[in-house]
Amino acid sequence: MAEIGKDILTAKKILTESGLVAIPTETVYGLAANAFDEKAVIKIFEAKNRPLFDPLILHTNSIEKIKLFVKEIPESALKLVEKFWPGPLTLLLPKKEIVPDLVTSGLRDVAVRIPDHTLTLELLSQLEFPLAAPSANLFGYVSPTSALHVHQQLGEKIEYILDGGECKVGIESTIVGFEKGKAIVFRLGGLAIEEIENVCGKVELRINNSSNPNAPGQLKSHYATKKPLCTGNIDEAIEKFQYKRMGVISFCKEYPGQLTKTLSPKGNLEEAAQNLFKAMRELDENDSVDFIYAEVFPSEFLGRAINDRLQRASVF
Ligand code: TXA
Ligand code: MG
Repeated sequence: MAEIGKDILTAKKILTESGLVAIPTETVYGLAANAFDEKAVIKIFEAKNRPLFDPLILHTNSIEKIKLFVKEIPESALKLVEKFWPGPLTLLLPKKEIVPDLVTSGLRDVAVRIPDHTLTLELLSQLEFPLAAPSANLFGYVSPTSALHVHQQLGEKIEYILDGGECKVGIESTIVGFEKGKAIVFRLGGLAIEEIENVCGKVELRINNSSNPNAPGQLKSHYATKKPLCTGNIDEAIEKFQYKRMGVISFCKEYPGQLTKTLSPKGNLEEAAQNLFKAMRELDENDSVDFIYAEVFPSEFLGRAINDRLQRASVF
């Protein structure tokens, strides 16, 4: 059974010996292994039941280290790096030979980011290799935003969970790739598109579905609860599903008489993103709930990423 603790040396020892450690980041917890050690990386796929066609993100703590394993960093990428790293932004960059094909599922580019979490940055600074780390949940389920969430799903499969408290962004990183120097967004996430566009002008969104080979992990059905989840207008749903055991996820309103998770009473999208996955898990585990109904969020800033996750979790 995994131990939960704050000891960087224990984490370092396990990782150096090809083991798995769950690490905190500002977005969600990651399930980490030495990215240059295929024997270690394969354990990630096994622990998560993750298909090998779904590539992994590499985490490290400096641009100097990234340059050791990517061929080039385009000008527009450097601008984003300067403004947003450490932070919830992942860049797709052409990989050097040293990155195993297992990590990128055979793709030419490798996904990289510098996460914004003190404990993990300290750990990364002590390692001579980057950490490959997908979200630390079973494949297809909601990502974990606390050490306890990781323990519930992967506790029996890993040795150590580095406890860095609750994740402050709460939603996975935004993924950006480049074509002829132009930025293309492949996954909506914790860094709003509006913020990216402030730095590099209008960007193309290529948010996909299961048929997009550029972002294999962007399957249409993902981030899903075990109970059915739908999205739409809450008042209409209450009217329609009277007497049914419905759990509600709302942005800022309360719905008296209804079991409701209000993500941000003051209507702040960042706070709502931070609380989203926890609310989904809690309703999923609540015995008095048969299905979950979520409001459609404002389609701007982090509201877009929240809608994306709810849509993928949705049965329709
Ligand atoms: O915030 C995050 O990004 C978290 C934390 C732990 O860093 N990680 C995360 O990893 O969300 P994961 O594995 O759950 O999602 C990563 C997704 C993949 O599913 C895939 O869509 C995309 O990143 N990806 C990774 N490498 C890629 C590549 N070389 N080309 C295109 N997409 C890639
Ligand atoms: Mg994931």
